[in-house]
Amino acid sequence: MSFSGKVVIVTGASSGIGAAVAVMFCKEGASVALVARNEKKLMDVSVKCSLVGGKHIIIKADVSNDEDAKRIISETVTKFGQLDVLVNNAGIIAFGSILEGTILETYDKIMKINLRAIVHLTMLAAPHLVKTKGNIINISSIAGSIVVDSFFSAYCCSKAGLDHFTRSTAAELAASGVRVNAISPGPVVTDIFDNAGFTPDLVSKLQTPLGRVSQSEEIADLILYLASDKANGITGSNIVSDNGCMLHMLK
Ligand SMILES: NC(=O)c1ccc[n+]([C@@H]2O[C@H](COP(=O)([O-])OP(=O)(O)OC[C@H]3O[C@@H](n4cnc5c(N)ncnc54)[C@H](OP(=O)(O)O)[C@@H]3O)[C@@H](O)[C@H]2O)c1
Repeated sequence: MSFSGKVVIVTGASSGIGAAVAVMFCKEGASVALVARNEKKLMDVSVKCSLVGGKHIIIKADVSNDEDAKRIISETVTKFGQLDVLVNNAGIIAFGSILEGTILETYDKIMKINLRAIVHLTMLAAPHLVKTKGNIINISSIAGSIVVDSFFSAYCCSKAGLDHFTRSTAAELAASGVRVNAISPGPVVTDIFDNAGFTPDLVSKLQTPLGRVSQSEEIADLILYLASDKANGITGSNIVSDNGCMLHMLK
């Protein structure tokens, strides 16, 4: 799956799924903009990108900051001349309780990063994607379709909103030849729970019907497939890769 001559933005490229897909795009010949806030972690991923020979730039930015969002798009297009793929992957999780009165603060914090930032980046990237007939991949979660834990309601809402934003955007941009899809992972071994202050290594202890949890590279493989010409007929879809977790709905 060559991405030679293609320009890709990956948000949340400093760890987990974003880091894995950034390296993979570089390996396949794309020019990649690595976006996140933690410069040290971005540098570590940059070294991995260099090892596979990919052209890339680091953009230290907070996706939820409007000026940073503009800079993400403008720096990428200035450096590489175009934009073919936007991977909206940056995301956070956080607990919020209705009865303890913490839900509103959590909701605002999560929505700003997990949904509003994606709406903004999509709007800013769309004119460039129309020129290249490019595509967008939004990293959602099975939490957008099922309730994973009542204290995760803000996170679940952000991903449910993202699922519908994916479909709506796909509908609007289809006539311009731009595809928009989502991927909904189940548990993936990344830093996400540690970053949110939960038990280290929590994900690897979770039970799934297939008796395994995913590695970031499995999700990265799906992202590359959806971004490639092989998926030219796919838009408005939400591809689930969850080791069977959603099957619990049928029990
Ligand atoms: N891991 C799972 O089990 C799982 C399951 C379903 C869905 N997902 C989704 O997968 C996506 C990637 O998560 P992950 O599991 O790979 O977690 P991760 O290892 O914690 O990575 C999250 C990335 O998002 C970046 N990020 C967070 N807030 C940001 C902001 N305001 N501006 C810029 N970058 C920001 C982080 O970088 P900095 O901290 O350096 O900014 C980091 O690179 C998320 O959208 C998550 O909801 C994960």
